[in-house]
Amino acid sequence: MEKRIALVTGANGEVGHLLLGKLAAGNYEVVALDLNDLDQTLSGFVKKFYKGDITDEALLSSIFQNEHIDIVFHLAAVLSTSGEKNPELAHHVNVGGTLNILKSANTISQASKKKITVIYPSSIAVYGLPDLVTKNSASFIGEGQFTNPITMYGINKLYGENLGIYFEKYYKLLEKSQERYIDFRCIRFPGLISAVTVPSGGTSDYAPEMIHTAAQGQGYESFVREDSVLPFMAMPDAVKALLLIADAQKEKLTQNVYNVSSFSVSAKEIAEIVLKVFPETMIGYNPDPARQRIVDSWPSNVNDTTARRDWSWSPDYDIKKAFEEYLIPEITKKYS
Ligand code: SER
Repeated sequence: MEKRIALVTGANGEVGHLLLGKLAAGNYEVVALDLNDLDQTLSGFVKKFYKGDITDEALLSSIFQNEHIDIVFHLAAVLSTSGEKNPELAHHVNVGGTLNILKSANTISQASKKKITVIYPSSIAVYGLPDLVTKNSASFIGEGQFTNPITMYGINKLYGENLGIYFEKYYKLLEKSQERYIDFRCIRFPGLISAVTVPSGGTSDYAPEMIHTAAQGQGYESFVREDSVLPFMAMPDAVKALLLIADAQKEKLTQNVYNVSSFSVSAKEIAEIVLKVFPETMIGYNPDPARQRIVDSWPSNVNDTTARRDWSWSPDYDIKKAFEEYLIPEITKKYS
């Protein structure tokens, strides 16, 4: 079978670190884009690397002109905590970058009359529960509920979802002969935990930070309360979800935007698991009011029934397996 040419933006990021290898081992040739030099550990998976800014129109247009891209994994983004430090920059990168991808893909796909699939990772940050009472009483939130985000990142992601749908279904609505070739598919991820990299700039970062610092023999002070609950997912499952939705038959997809979930856990429960494995670690709690507010506005769990039905989504890792078979052994190895 002919290989699909995949453009991966933000290739150096946490998801890219696992996705690139999986794509290269599968039916894909990888073209990667990142603001910084490509991480040496990833270079073997990449056919061509572009260093540059996702908002650079000339660069994106030349990538699509030259590389015959079939599918885009648009991973580049400024996450929620970084976004609150510089909301205008977050908007520029998250909205401007997504528009640039969609516009460049659309132009080239219309010229060649060839579909381009755009895979867009969105986030639980698109939700905004008004208060803790509502958060604690609302369970298994569906894609259409509580979409009132309080962060610039969440707002940008929600808009990016709608922008993708617009390019697939409605672009230049007034022009009767308008043909559209964008196939837009979006996954709303929970907090992701990788054994390979430590995140930066997110608000669900307390979970991975706690595990990674304990494995390095250091203590950790959590920036959220111990009773804070979020849905999380082990990175291999996030990559599995991206590959599954990329391979799904379009006729099976009843919507463009899908929740996915695997396990929900409190900061205290994570600490307890970590303390069992690294008993000498000290874990304390010193909630940062602003970051706490963000976590309190995100759901404890989401309903991913439609992803399970439409494209056979199911996670391989529940909480026990995520820690025992992936996080603890891999992270221990990483720092030993
Ligand atoms: N992990 C992201 C963040 O914390 C949420 O998608 O910003």
